[in-house]
Amino acid sequence: MKTLVIVAHPDLTNSRINRTWMHAFQQQENVMVHDLYAAYPDFKIDVKREQELLMAHDRIVLQFPFFWYSSPALLKLWQDEVLAYGWAYGQAGTRLHGKELLLAFSTGGPAEAYQPSGLNRFTFDQLTTPFQAMANLTGMTFLPPYILSGVRTLSDEALAKATASLIEQTLQVPIRK
Ligand SMILES: Cc1cc2nc3c(=O)[nH]c(=O)nc-3n(C[C@H](O)[C@H](O)[C@H](O)COP(=O)(O)O)c2cc1C
Repeated sequence: MKTLVIVAHPDLTNSRINRTWMHAFQQQENVMVHDLYAAYPDFKIDVKREQELLMAHDRIVLQFPFFWYSSPALLKLWQDEVLAYGWAYGQAGTRLHGKELLLAFSTGGPAEAYQPSGLNRFTFDQLTTPFQAMANLTGMTFLPPYILSGVRTLSDEALAKATASLIEQTLQVPIRK
């Protein structure tokens, strides 16, 4: 099984969590790490290249820091342009059928803030519905996401442990719900 990890972080130099995760993924076999902001600093996405990358992998991981309850902007643009009508959905748009989609993201807010009674009011399950719907429409299986919350106060030891479980969860075969 081949895994593609698409990393979408606009400032990896100053990142702690996503940079650690990216380096850990780079050590794994059968995993290709694709740093989206490094590839397209001008936001001019090579759609054909991206579609070829998707076609060549079975499990697609979208890795990012949670920004305004969603992903950073370039990943949204990537969705808009790469997941095209007639390719990813619609008539004859079956290229992603049977693949798996896994979200891996970090949040500043702690887990308890993502509850109906918490500061952010909505749960992660609710907030990730656009990605779940995207997987549904494109015929991909939406795997249980890997979410690391409350990262501002996370110790180095906890980050190391979380990174190990992220790798384990991501590369498990099979990890269908
Ligand atoms: C523009 C911006 C928007 C953010 N929005 C959220 C948010 O909606 N919810 C949240 O919990 N944290 C939010 N954060 C905090 C980031 O998720 C957090 O800094 C990031 O996960 C840390 O990962 P890193 O060390 O890889 O940068 C935001 C941060 C920035 C810079």
